[in-house]
Amino acid sequence: MNPVDPAKAYRLFYPAVPAIVSCSAGGTVYAMPVVSIVSLSNDPPLVGVSSSPSHSTHRAIARAGRFSVAWVGSQLAPALEFLGTTPHTGEDKLLSAGLRHERGGTLDVPVVEGAAAVLECSLWSRHVTGDHELLIGRIEAARAIADFQGYWRFEAYHPVLYAGIQRGSFETYRERPTP
Ligand SMILES: Cc1cc2nc3c(=O)[nH]c(=O)nc-3n(C[C@H](O)[C@H](O)[C@H](O)COP(=O)(O)O)c2cc1C
Repeated sequence: MNPVDPAKAYRLFYPAVPAIVSCSAGGTVYAMPVVSIVSLSNDPPLVGVSSSPSHSTHRAIARAGRFSVAWVGSQLAPALEFLGTTPHTGEDKLLSAGLRHERGGTLDVPVVEGAAAVLECSLWSRHVTGDHELLIGRIEAARAIADFQGYWRFEAYHPVLYAGIQRGSFETYRERPTP
């Protein structure tokens, strides 16, 4: 085996399924993809997102105290790539990425149209973890398309697999082969 720079060891976790974390604050919609997302607790239902405080979305979540999570199918991989490589500008980053959205049914958070599953989360706590911060959300509402029957059937939902940014390449995301 060859040595790996410990600061780059996070890449050994790939491929990973990214989710879109978004937030509405002061009339502006913020959004970014994250791979560092994990289910932390069932009761209460808690989800953790490791996020760099340098991101506009991170700062907006800290202000608003709530956020949404959306998992999208591989057909929306280009939008994910846009969200992950474009710093926030303008009033609505989701729309800039071509993603329409509506207000959550429980919280005032943007919910991505066409998503396979969404969470509406209130910000439960924040913890500094090195150069990132763990944002812990309490899941106030969750919804999924019919392909989720207690578990994913993967008949309609084909997750994005992220393997790392390949410079200038749209092959950043590897699609799961359709059965
Ligand atoms: C697929 C993908 C996954 C990412 N995952 C994370 C992550 O887990 N945590 C993080 O802090 N940044 C992550 N990033 C980086 C941010 O999404 C990216 O810097 C984004 O443009 C920040 O947007 P904002 O400044 O508008 O908030 C990821 C980027 C990509 C492309």
